[in-house]
Amino acid sequence: MAEIIAVLEKAFKEKGEGRVEMPPKPGIHPRGGDNFIHAMPAYIPAMKSAGIKWVSGFPGNFQRGLPYINGLLILNDPGTGLPISVMDCTWITAMRTGAASAVAAKYLARSDSSILGLLGCGVQGRSHLEALQVLFPLKQVMAYDTDAQAAQCFANEITNRFGLEVVIVDTPQKAVTGCDIIVTSGPILKKPHRTIQPGWMDEGAFASLVDFDSYWHPQALHETTKFCTDDIPQLRHYQEIGYFQDIPPVYAHLGELVTGQKPGRETPRERTMTANLGLAMDDMATAPLIYQQAVKKNIGTWLNL
Ligand SMILES: NC(=O)c1ccc[n+]([C@@H]2O[C@H](COP(=O)([O-])OP(=O)(O)OC[C@H]3O[C@@H](n4cnc5c(N)ncnc54)[C@H](O)[C@@H]3O)[C@@H](O)[C@H]2O)c1
Repeated sequence: MAEIIAVLEKAFKEKGEGRVEMPPKPGIHPRGGDNFIHAMPAYIPAMKSAGIKWVSGFPGNFQRGLPYINGLLILNDPGTGLPISVMDCTWITAMRTGAASAVAAKYLARSDSSILGLLGCGVQGRSHLEALQVLFPLKQVMAYDTDAQAAQCFANEITNRFGLEVVIVDTPQKAVTGCDIIVTSGPILKKPHRTIQPGWMDEGAFASLVDFDSYWHPQALHETTKFCTDDIPQLRHYQEIGYFQDIPPVYAHLGELVTGQKPGRETPRERTMTANLGLAMDDMATAPLIYQQAVKKNIGTWLNL
């Protein structure tokens, strides 16, 4: 995770300086509803990385015992265009999303943040905890999930793995008020359920909206002084198709924070937020690490084209 956070921070610097090619992601929506399959290409010259992720998100998979996110990633040789590797993208998606929130938190959260509030204890809840504990002196996690069993599994796993105190809370407010960092990672909804009310988020806290604005009352969002995102054109695209209908003005994208074009947190009292949408660049920054490790360890299968 520490390596992925470092490589993502570099990628955001490249993006902030205009050196990443990343067209908006097209998608299809089999059987309607909130199902999607997105094509996500990116080229990062400084990392000699070019490729595409073909990733699906099917909310109904939960009932079939399948992961919500699934897909494949193809890495290409930027010199010849030849495909050099085909890999699973479920793990990369989980890890890079947590890592991208950690990069945002590095610039927007208080460095002494020790209490994490987590709403949604699934795959992203786990990867966010893993990423945030790399950069912050986390001591306690306030964990909320509508599925009590999911919260309990999460608590057992995290206590064993990281030795952190996990408090399973019975209301969403207890995973917001009193927390230094808040992560909302439930389902993404076009129509937010607006559970998090104005006045819940403390002064000095930072929030990462992994499930977009689904969890937040618009007035609670408007309490933040710095509302950020990983990519403004992509945010505008989501707004055009019905998401993020009432959000504060965007203060900066992460590339601007990482390159210092705009300052991140400036006082210990301001409330800050990022709504990262998840970028093809995040995947193409991470995938070469996986490919190189696989070659080094001689794992994987050689395919003839
Ligand atoms: N922004 C990004 O870059 C990005 C990337 C990947 C996934 N996501 C989003 O992250 C979210 C979580 O994905 P995941 O793979 O962790 O899914 P998951 O199914 O593994 O976990 C979701 C968890 O949320 C719980 N939940 C459902 N409704 C809830 C509510 N109202 N309050 C609290 N908990 C609730 C579920 O019980 C489950 O434990 C999804 O919305 C997904 O689209 C965002």
